[in-house]
Amino acid sequence: MNVHTVAVIGGGLMGSGIAQVVAEAGKKVCLVDVSADQVQKSIKTISNHLSRKVEKGKCSKEHMEQTLDRITGTTEMANIQEAQLVIEAVPEKLDIKKKVFAELDTYANKDAILASNTSGLSIAAIGAAAKRPEKVIGLHFFYPAPIMKLVEVIPSLITSQDTYDTAYQFVKDIQKDPVECKDYPGFIVNRILVPMVNEAIFCLMEGVKPEDVDQAMKLGANHKMGPITLADFVGLDVLLATMEGLYEGFSDSKYRPAPLLKKMVESGNLGKKTGRGFYIYNEKGEQVGS
Ligand code: NAI
Repeated sequence: MNVHTVAVIGGGLMGSGIAQVVAEAGKKVCLVDVSADQVQKSIKTISNHLSRKVEKGKCSKEHMEQTLDRITGTTEMANIQEAQLVIEAVPEKLDIKKKVFAELDTYANKDAILASNTSGLSIAAIGAAAKRPEKVIGLHFFYPAPIMKLVEVIPSLITSQDTYDTAYQFVKDIQKDPVECKDYPGFIVNRILVPMVNEAIFCLMEGVKPEDVDQAMKLGANHKMGPITLADFVGLDVLLATMEGLYEGFSDSKYRPAPLLKKMVESGNLGKKTGRGFYIYNEKGEQVGS
């Protein structure tokens, strides 16, 4: 199946970026959010991003207008009937996703593929909420979706080969690079990256300075950004939730969250977004100390 009509459920940070990418690739997009206000905001965000691309000479005004023409926003799930592929990007809570997938079953075309942009929840568990688990798959985009090239493609144990092949080809059609993952916590990137950052926080517990950990990994491992700066950037609450997901999902002590990470979250110092994490930030978001 060649996908040319898509529905995106959830118009937040990820949903709006995914809708932009899909519409820019020439596909029709129906963007659904529970909040009418969020639907408006989401389309405004896409429009602003495209205007900036036009200003920088990265695309034509015509491309921008055609892209926006392909997007319709709605709060009515009933409007997704035409979609051949639905991409869900609602909050990362299994009960919310299950409720949405049960609803998608009712409103989406019976042949439509249902994809989740979950960062780490089980695709099998999400799929079990739909009456068509063989048509459920993970498509994990990275933030910011219009810039990041990677999409992790995650079939569950019961996803059909047809569903996988169509989803994989779709990712290529929208000019992204797919990788096949297995349906285990963290998939590939978060499974490797987050424990590395957690280990860096263990170094801080032993008394190593944040600046030294970052410098070591930048110069010694050729990382663009040090792990402690990355931790503050991603948000310490998000990191802790991911570590807890790995710890529970694998029942393996090697994924235990660093106690210092827990303490930081308990104290409300969550990184750049709260002005203080392992580093201190000014109003412009610049690091001013540690
Ligand atoms: P967000 O909180 O920015 O957006 C979620 C949106 O879903 C909100 O606009 C909300 O109004 C809407 N929503 C809630 N319930 C809904 C429902 N029943 N029907 C329709 N819309 C509903 O969340 P964000 O950051 O975009 O995350 C979405 C998903 O993407 C999560 O599963 C997250 O783990 C994943 N993800 C997030 C990344 C990030 O950097 N924020 C990166 C990659 C994946």
